[in-house]
Amino acid sequence: MERTFMAIKPDAVKRGLIGRIIKRIENKGYKIVAMKMLQPTLEIAEKHYAEHKGKPFYPELIKYITSGPIVAMVVEGDNVIEGTRHMMGSTVPNSAEVGTIRADFGMTKECNVVHGSDSIEAAEREIAIYFTQDELCENWKTMMELVLEAQHSDSTPFVGA
Ligand code: RTP
Ligand code: MG
Repeated sequence: MERTFMAIKPDAVKRGLIGRIIKRIENKGYKIVAMKMLQPTLEIAEKHYAEHKGKPFYPELIKYITSGPIVAMVVEGDNVIEGTRHMMGSTVPNSAEVGTIRADFGMTKECNVVHGSDSIEAAEREIAIYFTQDELCENWKTMMELVLEAQHSDSTPFVGA
């Protein structure tokens, strides 16, 4: 099963959007396997956005992402990288597809509410920046997984680990 790194960015935390964004991820049926709130240090921010170093917007990006807490998450699901990027919408909120997170909540290109990895390699790299292996909750099943498993056996779906 594919995994991605997502973050609710500081503008969204300050605006009280945490619950509404997490709700969309859960509604979609994705499995959140790790989550924490933290204020990125300069070191973390520079590692996360290393690919943008040298670009004109880089200093503002670093200032923005270190300006307050983010909610960092590891999200799992079928084709989750493409799916979450689609749910997020394109970088610029005013041209993001209606119904996406950025179109519905984003105000500017710079402060666009959420982050999501854009490839498997980026996801692995970013997850390792924010989480240690033992912070990933891997030994549990979603209700959907339990129900599907129970359908193939005689057990009740509510007691599986
Ligand atoms: P993200 O990495 O945060 O998920 O966003 P993205 O892939 O849609 O966009 P990316 O090109 O990777 O840019 C990273 C973040 O930098 C800020 N940005 N500002 N002023 C500008 O021209 C500009 N361009 C990008 C945004 O916060 C963007 O999400
Ligand atoms: Mg990006």
